[in-house]
Amino acid sequence: MNPSLNLMVDEPRANLWHEVGGDETFRKLVWAFYRRVEEDAWLRRLFPPDLGPGREKQYLFLVQYFGGGPRYSALHGHPRLRMRHFPVAIGEAERDRWLHHMLDAIDEVGIEEPWRTEMRAYFETASTHMINQPTQGGTDGEVR
Ligand code: HEM
Repeated sequence: MNPSLNLMVDEPRANLWHEVGGDETFRKLVWAFYRRVEEDAWLRRLFPPDLGPGREKQYLFLVQYFGGGPRYSALHGHPRLRMRHFPVAIGEAERDRWLHHMLDAIDEVGIEEPWRTEMRAYFETASTHMINQPTQGGTDGEVR
């Protein structure tokens, strides 16, 4: 086999980005996700007034992670996502709400199996990793 081809196959995320439709699909995914954030006052409070720059970063990061090239790092350096999330108070409830919107966005965009399951697994694990504090209260302010 051509060694450069082999290298591409060995790249763990080399195909997902391409197979689900490349940039266009990721743009739709991130826009669908952010629309949900915008409509969710409880989660929205954690985001800055202007959602645009964060949305673009999220898009570049996901393209990079799923195999579309180092587009986030070229502009912003090493992702260090857990560290970059330290200023955001993320408890279990915040993580659950974030994940719920992302999983809904995957289905809105119509990402098919087996990629749907692979993406869901990534978002479940990675969002849990972003938790940086105990949850203070429920989504409606009730104490749990
Ligand atoms: C799979 C898990 C996650 C991924 C891949 C992800 C991705 C990202 C990225 C790439 C950024 C921009 C970082 C930068 O360059 O400054 C970001 C920012 C942010 N993330 Fe996440 N995130 C995840 C989980 C979460 C969770 C669970 C929350 C909970 C609310 C959250 C809330 C935020 C907020 C509020 C920002 C700042 C947005 C802004 O400044 O506009 N993220 N995230």
